[in-house]
Amino acid sequence: MRRAKITIVGAGNVGATTAHWCAAAELGDIVLLDIPQTEGMPAGKALDLMQSSPIMGFDSRITGVTSYDESRGSDVVVITAGIARKPGMSRDDLLSTNAKIVGSVAEQVKSTSPEAVVIVVSNPLDAMVQRAFQVTGFPPQRVLGQAGVLDTARYRAFLAMELGVSVEDISALLMGGHGDTMVPMPSCTSVGGIPVTQLLDQKRLDEIVDRTRKGGAEIVALLKTGSAYYAPAAATAQMVEAIVRDKKRLIPCAAYCDREYGVGGYYVGVPVILGSKGVEKVVELKLTPQEQSDFQKSVDSVKELVKVMATLTG
Ligand code: NAI
Ligand code: 2OP
Repeated sequence: MRRAKITIVGAGNVGATTAHWCAAAELGDIVLLDIPQTEGMPAGKALDLMQSSPIMGFDSRITGVTSYDESRGSDVVVITAGIARKPGMSRDDLLSTNAKIVGSVAEQVKSTSPEAVVIVVSNPLDAMVQRAFQVTGFPPQRVLGQAGVLDTARYRAFLAMELGVSVEDISALLMGGHGDTMVPMPSCTSVGGIPVTQLLDQKRLDEIVDRTRKGGAEIVALLKTGSAYYAPAAATAQMVEAIVRDKKRLIPCAAYCDREYGVGGYYVGVPVILGSKGVEKVVELKLTPQEQSDFQKSVDSVKELVKVMATLTG
């Protein structure tokens, strides 16, 4: 059986770590791609990872390149190319630079891997997925963004730390854009099947939600030189796995919503079923009035960002 071919564009922190998780899980053969100015960097990281394979016992082939030739015919393309934020910057401050980078990457992906499912990671996430969708012209189901798996994982980790229980027993969902307006869904959060509201009072739950919303900034402030990458890369690898193994995972992703949730043609974080064809279904939940109002605020901020992007990209 042919192994899946996975191209990861951007061999920086998130890209290289995604390659690491994907290789360790033997999800397929991996092409790690960066710009020519990086010279041997992607090749060096790929070779280093290959040399870990006899120790870790995985059979993925990993190559590091600076041109799209080697990536032709990929089944999955992950876009992590772009600049990351530094202390004092918001994700939105990256808009102008990354819209150009993601646009140019999407042009190349369109011609070299026309059948691929594309996962965008670059920030500001929701606008960058929209950009990749516009430029590739791929069906919306084959272009999606990683944010919800990460945001939900942060929330689950904080809840497990608070309650002193295994992360495995925490099931949760966050919706909306990848930013301060992300929407927690307490009605979809449980611990070993017990609604979280029976285990934590509202004040403590609100504090944990607030920490989750600011989870990216907390790490930027600690690292000082860039943003998080272990958890973002693990989240991305989980999405790659859902696609290459056709797992039909029900997870939150930035997906194209038109009539769904009344969004009207934008990418925003919603629960989806993810399989070999990409987004196989956007799962529509009945939202409470509070959730609906918070979700609408989040959608409005995504729309605003996409509007600004349109003025920058023409
Ligand atoms: P990084 O600076 O470590 O790596 C970025 C890489 O992209 C660099 O190696 C750079 O040379 C490369 N690159 C730039 N232009 C390119 C092009 N045209 N083609 C190919 N490669 C290109 O940054 P890091 O930490 O890996 O973050 C990457 C992006 O992911 C940032 O925009 C960051 O904000 C975003 N991010 C998103 C997350 C999410 O949950 N959606 C989580 C973490 C980061
Ligand atoms: C994060 O949430 C920077 O978006 C990235 O860590």
